[in-house]
Amino acid sequence: MPKFIGILTAGGDSPGLNATIRAVGKSAIGTYGMQVIGFRDGFRGLMANRIIRLDEIALSGILTIGGTLLGTSRDKPHKMPIGGKMLDMTEAMIDTYHKHHLDALVCIGGGGTQKNALRLAQKGLNIITLPKTIDNDVGMTDMTFGFDTAMSIATEAIDRLHSTAHSHHRIVVVGIMGHNAGWLALGAGIAGGANVILIPELPYDIKLVADAIRQRSRAGKNFSIVAVAEGARTMDDVARWQEVKQTVEAARNKTQKREAKLELAELEEQQVDNTLRLSKALEQLTGLESRVTILGYLQRGGTPSAADRLLATRLGTACSSMINEGIFGVMLAFQGEQVVPVPLEEVVGQRKVIPPNHPWLETARLVGISLGA
Ligand code: F6P
Repeated sequence: MPKFIGILTAGGDSPGLNATIRAVGKSAIGTYGMQVIGFRDGFRGLMANRIIRLDEIALSGILTIGGTLLGTSRDKPHKMPIGGKMLDMTEAMIDTYHKHHLDALVCIGGGGTQKNALRLAQKGLNIITLPKTIDNDVGMTDMTFGFDTAMSIATEAIDRLHSTAHSHHRIVVVGIMGHNAGWLALGAGIAGGANVILIPELPYDIKLVADAIRQRSRAGKNFSIVAVAEGARTMDDVARWQEVKQTVEAARNKTQKREAKLELAELEEQQVDNTLRLSKALEQLTGLESRVTILGYLQRGGTPSAADRLLATRLGTACSSMINEGIFGVMLAFQGEQVVPVPLEEVVGQRKVIPPNHPWLETARLVGISLGA
């Protein structure tokens, strides 16, 4: 009897998703004689039984295409917005799994997807996951696919911003994605020769950033590129946030708690435009003109890099081998040069941020990049 497998992609899209779907599918069908279907739009498609048959024709010609042919969403099985309500749709998903007599379900996604996949595994489904995200913040794996492409896009953007910053003697503040991790900003910042790199792992002092820029001016370099991760915060903002967070936890009554929570929400709201605020503050502190470029979703679009295609293909083919061997409840991680299965329980909740002793930080400092701390 051939094995039947389902695939879904969940969370934010990322270059390399189609390459991964193709690798799982081609090896599952070609090497192991399995049959493959895809579910549309992440866990929502699994809930609503919306499928695409993934045969050899459907899997052909998709290696280099960005996004995901399956579609994606940030829906969670246990909290899905339906008809204006948040419902637990886990049972509907289990029904779909059994309706198709699936032997395995492959969930491709980032940290949130690992959590959701674990929930389904705990309900008895044969789940195997693959780590995807441009943020590179999934625990237990050295690398997620999508990261290399996004880092290259951000690097090229920094390269291009150099000439305009140089011509106008300006500061250019480049906003780089990455959620609460600084991998993209630090990697692209070093590769692109940014003069300042600000990351969430190292809260920054704006005065130190301004000092670094003024020092460059004094040395005759009248332009500066500041690569700032979307999650980067000033030391003052972090201190205030921690203070209010403690107030929420220590609140003695409902009114106190509500007020502190409102303030916390306001502080989080203010962070939305922190890149613009940083640019304005730098103009004031340095007397130089400053401009902002937020790279946003450009970093997630288009053709995956060679490194991401290779990683996607290695993870995807390893995935069908594991299914063939009956190994489930795991995420396939890339460790050293090997693809290894890691129990989902060990992955969930392990956001991978840049550790203080990471060699990239030392490299940045040695090449004279200010980290604002
Ligand atoms: O996780 C990938 C990512 O692009 C983050 O870098 C960013 O913070 C987030 O997704 C944006 O999410 P959304 O696609 O929901 O706007």
